[in-house]
Amino acid sequence: MRLDKFLAQQGVGSRAEVKQLIKKGCITVNGRSCRLADMKIDENADVVQYNGVPLSYQEFYYYMLNKPAGVVSATSDNVNDTVLSLLKGVNTKNLFPVGRLDKDTEGLLLLTNDGQLAHDLLSPNKHVKKTYFTVIDGKISVKEIKALESGIDIGDETITRPAGLQVLNPDTAKRYLPPSFNVEKAEACYILLTITEGRFHQVKRMFQAVGRNVLYLKRIAMGNLSLDPGLKSGAFRELSADEIKNLKKV
Ligand code: URA
Repeated sequence: MRLDKFLAQQGVGSRAEVKQLIKKGCITVNGRSCRLADMKIDENADVVQYNGVPLSYQEFYYYMLNKPAGVVSATSDNVNDTVLSLLKGVNTKNLFPVGRLDKDTEGLLLLTNDGQLAHDLLSPNKHVKKTYFTVIDGKISVKEIKALESGIDIGDETITRPAGLQVLNPDTAKRYLPPSFNVEKAEACYILLTITEGRFHQVKRMFQAVGRNVLYLKRIAMGNLSLDPGLKSGAFRELSADEIKNLKKV
């Protein structure tokens, strides 16, 4: 890899900025000052230092975002803020969201530059589990639960794959709800729904198929990755090494 490309990828600066740093002699490769921006380095073996501080090469980045409502799951958008704009201080150049959450959906969104992992997590053949905390209007009946669990016609060519449903009491539901949501007043039902597909607006369409509207939707898990309960809405963090390892077991 070219030295200037490596430095830019490490977030040292833009390509133009790192060229200036190289010219000024701020960069050493294996202990020797290097003033050639196009010098080829082995990013896995060579020790590159910026003002004496070693830069370690990381090929892939993984961030967990607690997506707030109002931002779109895209890398660019002419009208709305994107999920990438929330990753303050991060070099987002090659990052993308793994799958989409609707603009009004909140919760767990993985952002990475690891195309293979994204492909595996989204592949329709892998049936990766996604769990959503859902608030619907009105009480759900046993018949409706059974219909959703066994698979339901949402207007596609095939019915949905079997799903898991767990009805929560309002006290348990509070841990997933935004502070603005009034549990006492709402005539609502709180459900954890686990699906193994990713059809367009799938959760909303599943509940619509049994005559219910989704009032609030938040993803709390995807594959082996759970939303960190300590992450406030709009906050993000890098995944731990264990989280990455577990996520790759798809
Ligand atoms: N299902 C939906 O209806 N919306 C989402 O954002 C995710 C799943």
